[in-house]
Amino acid sequence: MEIDVIREVALRAVKEAGAILRQGLEQTRTIEYKGEKNLVTDIDRRSEEAIAALVRRELPGHSLVSEEGTRLQGDSGYRWFVDPLDGTTNYAHGYPCFSVSIGVEKDDVLIYGVVYDPSLEELFTAERDGGAFLNGKRLRVSEVSRLSDALLATGFPPDVATAKENNLDHFANFMKRAQAVRRPGSAALDLCYVAAGRFDGFWELRLNTWDVAAGSLMVMESGGRVTDLRGQPLRLSKPQIVASNGLIHDEMLHILAMGM
Ligand code: IPD
Ligand code: CA
Ligand code: CA
Repeated sequence: MEIDVIREVALRAVKEAGAILRQGLEQTRTIEYKGEKNLVTDIDRRSEEAIAALVRRELPGHSLVSEEGTRLQGDSGYRWFVDPLDGTTNYAHGYPCFSVSIGVEKDDVLIYGVVYDPSLEELFTAERDGGAFLNGKRLRVSEVSRLSDALLATGFPPDVATAKENNLDHFANFMKRAQAVRRPGSAALDLCYVAAGRFDGFWELRLNTWDVAAGSLMVMESGGRVTDLRGQPLRLSKPQIVASNGLIHDEMLHILAMGM
């Protein structure tokens, strides 16, 4: 069955990529700048090459879109969205909060997601209608029901200094109303932490498909809610995302509406 093969290849891919990331931390990393605050390392590219080579070899006919530019074009209806290193700024500094993220669509519907944190050896997986898991253990979102009791996470775009939609207004509004707000630096992991009940909610304004494909499925499959900033269905092509345990979602949308 196709999903069994997808699962097997995706798990091999994130483990291989994770080993590359772990090993890369032991050596000097080459850093290039895609923008003033937008970094890419040689390890991002090596991780991407390993994942794409595996998919090309094991699943010919599957399409693939990866952050650092690799594209595979197939006609099977399956499409892989890959972030070979989510949290590059953290990684470049040796701060161990980063991940590998892979989401797989069939005919434009997300069917599988995996996010791997090689530092903690935490493997998050989700299958449509099959639940979400951390190292094989079923995940559930938290039961925090008031924003004032909630621990939230967010992130900022690399062009935060010049962009109009810089998220600083929403950040200030949530800082005043939530229990606390964190900015960990890997959106894929932030979403997994919502799925695991470690965060009660997460929002970010200008992400890419590869940042959220796996993590959004993780939140939905653990009983949470995922929308855009206005409460409409998430658009994967240009994600503005609010993900929560469901219970604080409307309160989050209300605060976001204040800043718009
Ligand atoms: C970034 C991280 C970060 C988020 C940024 C993303 P990258 O991805 O997910 O948490 O705030 O918007 O660009 O560049 O490290 O893959
Ligand atoms: Ca990313
Ligand atoms: Ca990345």
